[in-house]
Amino acid sequence: MEAKELQSYKQAGEIAKQVTAYAKELIKPGMLLLEIAQKIEAKIQELGGQLAFPVSLSINEIAAHYNPSLEDETKAQGLLKVDIGIHKKGFIADTAFSLDLTSDNKYKELIQASEQAVNNAFNLLNKNPTLSEIGETIQETIENKGFSPIINLSGHSLNQFDLHAGITIPNYADNNNNKLQSGAYAIEPFATTGEGKVYEGPPSNIYAIINPKKPRSPTARKIFNYAWEKHKTLPFSLREIQKKFGAMSRISLKQLEQAGILHNFPQLIEKSHEPVSQAEHTFVKTHEGIIVTTN
Ligand code: CO
Repeated sequence: MEAKELQSYKQAGEIAKQVTAYAKELIKPGMLLLEIAQKIEAKIQELGGQLAFPVSLSINEIAAHYNPSLEDETKAQGLLKVDIGIHKKGFIADTAFSLDLTSDNKYKELIQASEQAVNNAFNLLNKNPTLSEIGETIQETIENKGFSPIINLSGHSLNQFDLHAGITIPNYADNNNNKLQSGAYAIEPFATTGEGKVYEGPPSNIYAIINPKKPRSPTARKIFNYAWEKHKTLPFSLREIQKKFGAMSRISLKQLEQAGILHNFPQLIEKSHEPVSQAEHTFVKTHEGIIVTTN
């Protein structure tokens, strides 16, 4: 990896650390998710980062991909996952944490399970483990605390402007005996009291361009041009489009989706509707070793 590239990964990671600290201070039970999302996203930009994806604020059994639209009235409560993606010149820091917003701290251990799992996985990296060994460590850590890992969610490789660059880091022993090549990766265990799988739920209001061709409708074309210029194939939110393009946004995004230009990510929901915790950090592997960027 070139020095400049590594530098950008580190800069994105530094911003991620500051934004995480900011978000942990900011979030209180009862706050609108909309307010939280807007403040976190503004903070990222204030610190000189770009959004690699809209901040994801997922409550209880929603494991991932919830981003409030301008009309959303959902309030922070229960077990809240905050998943943050920042990039510098396309080089990404992907990090997540969970907060227990109940008055009796009932999700404390479930949160500890995913945090310990990510820590144990990172501690293993210096031994040059196989992908399956990383997954096994995550699985054992979570199961030893009496919970289940979510097996159809996984960590992933990162590349410039690419959030899922081909390699999957499993959250269970999957018998993949490949080892990690040099590059950037995120490890993200999810722990649950449920059966440990997610299904695709309602749309998340998070979109990404999957087929960059210009639509016919003038409004849809304006939105496409704006999103392509600003985000390329990285995800962006309905809210961002609503702010810029107003009332026509939903219908135009729908047209872009129907034309196969946009993907609307589904919310990912735990199959038995049990609460889910998440922890995530990003690292870069170079021939000199492992550099954790977000912790
Ligand atoms: Co990730």
